[in-house]
Amino acid sequence: MLLQVENLTVCYDTALVLNSLSVSVDEGELVSLVGPNGAGKSTLLRAITGLVRWEKSTMKGTRGGDITIEGTVHFAGERIDRLSAHDIVKRGLVHCPERRRPFREMTVAENLKAGGYLCGDRKEFHTRLEMVYQLFPVLKDRGNQISGKLSGGEQQMLAIARALMLQPKLLCIDEPSTGLAAKLKQELFERIQEIKASGIAMLLVEQDVSMAFKLASRNYVMSHGKVISEGTSEELLKDEAIRKTYLGL
Ligand SMILES: Nc1ncnc2c1ncn2[C@@H]1O[C@H](COP(=O)(O)OP(=O)(O)OP(=O)(O)O)[C@@H](O)[C@H]1O
Ligand SMILES: [Mg+2]
Repeated sequence: MLLQVENLTVCYDTALVLNSLSVSVDEGELVSLVGPNGAGKSTLLRAITGLVRWEKSTMKGTRGGDITIEGTVHFAGERIDRLSAHDIVKRGLVHCPERRRPFREMTVAENLKAGGYLCGDRKEFHTRLEMVYQLFPVLKDRGNQISGKLSGGEQQMLAIARALMLQPKLLCIDEPSTGLAAKLKQELFERIQEIKASGIAMLLVEQDVSMAFKLASRNYVMSHGKVISEGTSEELLKDEAIRKTYLGL
């Protein structure tokens, strides 16, 4: 397994947001994470990538209390749950956050350069940049445009492109299709398939369940901080209770 999360618990003050949850992602695998609002999907991605502080934290939750985290995360054969977000990124576990727009004041090219900050030498940087431009030609055309002036869909593509500049082994993407029109959603869908075909594993949180289920080989359904069901798309779609209660289908 590339990623193995075991018995992960996250408490914001006294609110139990992740309740002894276990998930895994294999090399090159695309796994989806679906479930109602507030289920803890974003918290899971943020905890895996070191953005929710481990141990007692000085970072205050919205309720003004402490954050408690328990459990283990292994990535590429190494335990990473005590590492800083920066050290986790360096190992190839990259987070593409929800509703997070790229740095709006910077141009597209500057954003991609910022994404490539871990890249040692110029040549390697340009190889990656070419790869990203091949995947998202629109970003090449808009290189000198201020990111804040891109359309919502283009900004979403840029956010993913910037994450790809970090050369992930596993990309955690949080709700990439939110707010996109059908045509752009379809385009994003195709780009995600291409990223998968290039061998990058993904853990995808997606509100559009039918899109998620078409992309993923395996899915987790989350509710109230727990995985309440897991399986292939066909298996989950056969389950009437899951369909109605958790997938809104
Ligand atoms: N910093 C925080 N302090 C306190 N509570 C928090 C904090 N961040 C998240 N929560 C709570 O944790 C719960 C899970 O939130 P999370 O954002 O992980 O859910 P989600 O499944 O991603 O929901 P959505 O589908 O709406 O994005 C929510 O009840 C939320 O209010
Ligand atoms: Mg979320």
